[in-house]
Amino acid sequence: MTIAKTDAKICGMGHSMKRKEDPRFIRGQGRYVDDIVLPGMLYMDIVRSPYAHAKIKKIDTSAALKIPGVLAVIDGPTLAKYNLHWMPTISSDTQMVLPIDEVMYQAQEVCAVIATERYIAADGADAVEVEYEPLPPMIDPFKSIAKGAPVLRHDKKDQKDNIAFHWEAGDRADTDKAMAAAEVVVTENIYLPRIHVASMETCGCIADFDSAQGKLTVYMTTQAPHAIRTVFALVAGHVGLSEERIRIISPDIGGGFGGKVPVYPGYVIAVAASVVIGKPVKWIEDRMENLQADSFARDYHMKVELGAKKDGTMTALRIKTIADHGYSNASANPSKFPAGLFSICTGSYDLKHAFCEVDAVYTNKPPGGVAYRCSFRVTEAVHAIERITDSLAHKLNMDPAALRMKNFIKFEQFPYKSVLGWEYDSGNYAPALKKAMDIIGYDALRKEQAEKRKKGELMGIGISSFTEIVGAGPSKDFDILGIKMFDSAEIRVHPTGKAIARFGTKSQGQGHETTYAQIVAQELGIPASDVQVEEGDTDTAPYGLGTYASRSTPTSGAACAMAARKIRDKARKIAAHLLEVKEEDLEWEPGKFSVKGAPQKSKTIQECAFAAYTNHPQGMEAGMEATHYYDPPNLTFPFGSYICVVDIDSGTGVVKVRRFVAVDDCGNIINPMIVDGQIHGGLNQGLAPALYEQISYDEEGNITGGSFIDYYVPTSLESPNWETDKTTTPSPHHPFGAKGVGESATVGAPPAIANAVVDALYHLGITHLDIPITPEKVWQALKAKGATA
Ligand code: CDP
Repeated sequence: MTIAKTDAKICGMGHSMKRKEDPRFIRGQGRYVDDIVLPGMLYMDIVRSPYAHAKIKKIDTSAALKIPGVLAVIDGPTLAKYNLHWMPTISSDTQMVLPIDEVMYQAQEVCAVIATERYIAADGADAVEVEYEPLPPMIDPFKSIAKGAPVLRHDKKDQKDNIAFHWEAGDRADTDKAMAAAEVVVTENIYLPRIHVASMETCGCIADFDSAQGKLTVYMTTQAPHAIRTVFALVAGHVGLSEERIRIISPDIGGGFGGKVPVYPGYVIAVAASVVIGKPVKWIEDRMENLQADSFARDYHMKVELGAKKDGTMTALRIKTIADHGYSNASANPSKFPAGLFSICTGSYDLKHAFCEVDAVYTNKPPGGVAYRCSFRVTEAVHAIERITDSLAHKLNMDPAALRMKNFIKFEQFPYKSVLGWEYDSGNYAPALKKAMDIIGYDALRKEQAEKRKKGELMGIGISSFTEIVGAGPSKDFDILGIKMFDSAEIRVHPTGKAIARFGTKSQGQGHETTYAQIVAQELGIPASDVQVEEGDTDTAPYGLGTYASRSTPTSGAACAMAARKIRDKARKIAAHLLEVKEEDLEWEPGKFSVKGAPQKSKTIQECAFAAYTNHPQGMEAGMEATHYYDPPNLTFPFGSYICVVDIDSGTGVVKVRRFVAVDDCGNIINPMIVDGQIHGGLNQGLAPALYEQISYDEEGNITGGSFIDYYVPTSLESPNWETDKTTTPSPHHPFGAKGVGESATVGAPPAIANAVVDALYHLGITHLDIPITPEKVWQALKAKGATA
C-alpha cells in the first residue's frame, strides 16, 4: 500500500513536519499538572511505611495537627467510613488505598497530611508518629510459591496460596514431545529484573470538588483519562461521584511509558480529601516516591528451552515463568491476557511447537506489573527468544545471523498464524537483517573480532531480530475491566476550512498534535498547520482507552483517517452540488474535487466546508464533522533487526557500546522525523535496563534503586551514536498501512546488547549474563574464569 505524498504546504503523511507542540515545550511554556494553581488550593503529602511487612499498632497525628497550616490527616479508618479504603486494580485484583492495620510493602501509603502549603504538608507527614510491629516479609517469589508459605493476601477469603494467577498458551503435551525429539536443546534461566520508568515528570493530580455543582474535576498525569474516569465512577459512585459528575483533564504530560496508566492510592486520597474538605487538593509525588511506590515493570524469572535440529532448524520452544507481582496484581494488562502479550515469544521464527506458562506470585513488594515502554510484556518475550537464539547459535557453532536467516518466517507466509495463536499481519524479516548487516559491515566485524580474540581482546557482536505486537484492540479479544479496547477520533471542520480534531488517546511526548494533524491533512488536504489537535479532557474528547502499548497510531490514528473519510464523502456531495455535476463525475486530489475531463472546474475542501454551513444541498444536514470509533481487525506487528558491537575492558568489566545499528519497520510512516525520535529515545530506554537500571530488595524488603543515587538512568554521556534506518512493510489491515512504533526500540535493544556481551565472552565459557550487565557482573564472571586483565 503506497501513500501519495501531498505537497509541503499541506504536509500530509511522509513529511518531517516540525512538531507543533515543541515551541511551547522548548520555551518552558508547557502546562503540566504542577503548573496548575487553583484558588484556595491545599497540598497533600503522604506518610509511607519504612517496613515491607508490619502491623500498624497506632497512628498518632497529634503533633502533626499542631503544626500551623496542617488542616487534616486522612488515614485508613477515615476512608473506611466511606468504604473508600480499598480499590480495584485494573487487573481486577484489589489493593488498599490506605491500610487499617497492616502494611504490605516498603513505601506503602499509610496516611496523608493536608496543609495550606506543600512544605507544611511535608513537615506534617514527618510529624505523624506511626507505631509498627514488624512482621516477617516474603521477598523471594520462589519461597512465596513454596508449599506451606504463609498466605500474604489473607484479606481475600478464597486465597489459599500466594499465586496471583496462572496463565498458559500453546499445547504443553505436543511441545514436550517435540522437545524430547529435538536433536539439540539449549536451556537458559533468564531473569529480567524489576525496573521503573523514570519520566521527567512524576505522577500527581489536583482534585477539585465543586460542592455547588456536585462535580469533581481532576487534573492528573494519566495516559488513559477516560478509563480512569470510569474506574473512579466505579470506586466512588456509591458516594455520589457518578461518571457524568467526574471530569478528568490530563494536560501536558512529561513522559508516561506505562507508569501513568494505573490508579495510584495518592489520586484516590486527594479526591477523598477534596470532597471532604471542599477545596482543591494537589498531590505531586517526589522522585523517590515515584521510584519506590509506583507500579514497576518486568520482574520475570524465565526458564527458556529451545529445541532444534543439528542443522539449526528450530523445532520447539518452552518457557516457564515466575512473575513477581508484589503485593497486588495491579498490572495494566487486557483482561484476557493477564501475562500481557507474552505469548508473542516465538518472535520472528517459524516455530511449529511452543508452550509458555506464567505463574504470578504475591510478595511484600510494591504492586504492579505494568509495561516500561512496551506492549504488555512483549519485552520479556523478545528477550527470551532473542537470547536463547544466540545460545543455540553458540552451541551449534553457527553464525547467529545465519541461524536467524534460516528460521525467519518467510515473506510469503504472511499473514502468518503463530502456533501460540497470533496472526502476524505482515513482515519481511530477512531484508531488514541484511540491511543492518550491510550498514554495520558485519563480515568485516567478524574478521576483526577473530583477530582481537587472538590478542586476548574482548569484542562482541549481538543481534536482535524482534517482532513486536501493538495496537490493542481488537475489541473481541481486548478489554480492560470489561471496557473494550477500541479508540476514537472526532473531527470538526469549521466554516473557514480550519479544523479541530479530538481523540481518545493522550500524548505524553510522542507528538500526537503533529502526527494526527498530518493524517487529517493527508485525508482531507487541509494543511496540517490548520488542524488543532486536542486530547485528554473527558468532557470534550470522544471515549477511548488512552495511549500506551504503541496503540495510538493503530487505533486513534486509524479512527482519524476513517472520520476524515466520512467528511470527504460529505464534501464530495457538497462539491457535486456546487459544481452541478454528479458525484461520480468528480475526481479527488488532496484538498480539491475537480470535474473529470474539466479540471478547471473544481472546489477546494475549504470551499466545501464553507458551503456546509452556508449553501448545503436541501435535505442534507448542515455542518462538516464526523466521529469514528475504530475497532482494529487485528493488532499490528512492527519489527526490526538491531546489531550492536561492544568492546569489554577485561580489567574493569566495563562494556562500551561501540556501534549500534537499528533497522526498523513500522509500515507506512506519518512523520519520519518523529519516528526517528521515537527510535532514538526507545534505544536509550533499551540501553538503560541492559546496562544500568535495576530495582532490587534485600531480605528485609528494603529497596535498592529507590533514588537516582543508585538507580542509574543513562545520560547522553552513556549513550552511543545510534545509527538508524528502515524498511517499509505496510500493515494490510490498517487504513493507511501504518503500524505502531513507540516502543519497538525499547523492546529490541536489550537482547542485542546482552547478546553482544555474551558473544564477546562465550569463548571463555561464559554462556549467559542477566541484565543489567554491570561492570561488576562482567568482572566477576571474568574472574571466575581466570580471565581478568
Ligand atoms: O501510542 P503511541 O503514540 O505511544 O505510539 P505510536 O502509535 O507508535 O506513535 C508514536 C509516534 O510516532 C506518534 O506521534 C505517531 O504518530 C508516530 N508514528 C508515525 O509517524 N508513523 C508510524 N507508522 C507510527 C507512529
